[in-house]
Amino acid sequence: MKILILNGPNLNLLGTREKSIYGAESFDQYFEKLKHIFPDFTLEYFQSNIEGELINKIHELRFLFDGIVLNAAAYTHTSVAIRDAIAAVDLPVIEVHISNVHKREAFRHTSLISASCVGVIAGFGLDSYRLGLEALSKIIENK
Ligand code: DQA
Repeated sequence: MKILILNGPNLNLLGTREKSIYGAESFDQYFEKLKHIFPDFTLEYFQSNIEGELINKIHELRFLFDGIVLNAAAYTHTSVAIRDAIAAVDLPVIEVHISNVHKREAFRHTSLISASCVGVIAGFGLDSYRLGLEALSKIIENK
């Protein structure tokens, strides 16, 4: 099973960025743990602060991977283009968020991408990614 973990803007700063919200662990450290938890999966990680690069990655891997765990970060709340990219490819995508966006500012309560995703996981810290991978693996197995 080949799964892409796709992170949007500012998530390269995990570990130092607003630690009270996002925690003190970098994504690179956490990604090593994920690889141990899911030894049978081929996991690829890509992060970009640029909307078009995230879209290009979705296009590029659409025939090569089985699914995507996506934290589009701030683009979640603004990007019709990422929503359309997800809708355009025949890949299951799980939307994840580290924080519980519904407990935060009102502008974070709207996601433009949820409607194109299979489901949404938010509020479990970095563990949201593990939960996203669990969910995705069941969907792919049952395909
Ligand atoms: C986030 C929540 C977004 O509102 C925010 O812009 C982020 C991270 C999260 O993982 O909690 O950058 O997606």
